[in-house]
Formats: sequence, C-alpha cells, structure tokens
Amino acid sequence: MKTLVTPTLTLEPQVAAHAAEMSLVLSGPAIYEFENAPPVSLEWLRNRFEKLESRRSKDGSEQWLNWVIRLPSGELIGYVQATVFNDRRALVAYELASAHWRRGLGSHALETMLSELKSDYGVSLFAAVLKRKNYRSLALLNKLKFSMSDEAQRSIYGADEDELLMLRRA
Ligand SMILES: CC(C)(COP(=O)(O)OP(=O)(O)OC[C@H]1O[C@@H](n2cnc3c(N)ncnc32)[C@H](O)[C@@H]1OP(=O)(O)O)[C@@H](O)C(=O)NCCC(=O)NCCS
Repeated sequence: MKTLVTPTLTLEPQVAAHAAEMSLVLSGPAIYEFENAPPVSLEWLRNRFEKLESRRSKDGSEQWLNWVIRLPSGELIGYVQATVFNDRRALVAYELASAHWRRGLGSHALETMLSELKSDYGVSLFAAVLKRKNYRSLALLNKLKFSMSDEAQRSIYGADEDELLMLRRA
C-alpha cells in the first residue's frame, strides 16, 4: 500500500500508531448525524486499526485498504477506506472532522483513492452505501459522478430500505 501525496493532502496507509490522533478526529458528534457511531474507546480503536493492518480478510477474498488524511500542516482530519473484492469491485467509505467540511477536501481525498484503486488494484466498479438522509455524503458522491444503482444491485451490497447504493464505473 502506497502513501499518496497531493499538493493539498497526503493519504497515509493507516496503522495502529494513528489510533491516538484519530480517536480525537473521530470523536466529533456531527460526523454521526446520520450513521455510524464514534469509537467506544482509544483501546478499541487501536485494536481495530491493528486488525486492519493485515489489509485482508481471513479467507483472503477481500483487501481492506485504509488511508488516513493528513493536511500539509501535519494535522490529521479523517480517513478514506475501500474493501476490494476479488471480482474488481470496491466498496468505499470516508469520514472527515466537521471543522474541515465544505472545502473540497472530502471529494479530493476520495478521488485520490479512487485513482489509486483503479491504477494499482485493478478496480473496475466503485460502490458506496449511505443512509438516504445523508445529504452531505450524497452531494460528495454526485460531485464525483456516482449514480444511483438499480434495484437488482442493492441486494449484492446488502443495502437496507433506508440506504442508497451509489455506483461509478472506473
Ligand atoms: C461527507 C463528507 C465526507 C463530505 O466532506 P467534505 O470535505 O465536506 O466534502 P467536499 O467539500 O469535497 O464537498 C463535496 C460536494 O458536496 C457538497 N456538500 C458537502 N456538504 C454539503 C452540505 N452540507 N450541503 C450541500 N452540499 C454539500 C459540496 O458543495 C461539494 O460539491 P461542490 O464542490 O460541487 O459544491 C463529510 O460531510 C463527512 O465526513 N460527513 C460525516 C461522515 C459521513 O457521513 N461519511 C459518509 C458515510 S456514507
């Protein structure tokens, strides 16, 4: 897994040593207005990051790719992640601290990861599952030219009734 450097941010492969800094980044309640929940403790987050450092599911069928997002100032502001399946699909997700929203950083970080997934991991289809109410995430995906899936695709990704599945061909 490579470090991805752009003029406005760097994506660093996530390791357990990021846990302390990231627990602060991920503690803001605004992030969880529509989905997910903050890490229950620093220890929990460190354990989770340690497991993710394997970069693979136990049966080897999924690659787990997590990058933390660092600004040129040195500050960590969030993460982007992808689960890459053997059939060249990738399910992506992202979270940024609310102090940094609406500056183009989320879309830039995600687009940087998508380019890497295509060039270095051979991904041909990007997918994202989000709560229907999560208008910020939907706006980001629309900006990056994701489209709403048809009904048939939704079951493949286990999207619930209150969720959207958005797709983009690589
Ligand atoms: C979703 C999230 C990553 C967006 O990050 P961001 O850095 O604010 O995104 P960007 O600044 O790149 O914005 C991308 C587009 O979405 C639009 N957008 C973002 N927030 C918006 C809002 N509150 N209202 C309307 N549009 C919004 C922007 O206007 C931009 O489009 P534009 O440049 O064409 O105007 C951020 O809101 C977040 O971390 N939310 C909480 C976690 C979360 O919901 N993750 C997704 C789980 S599926």
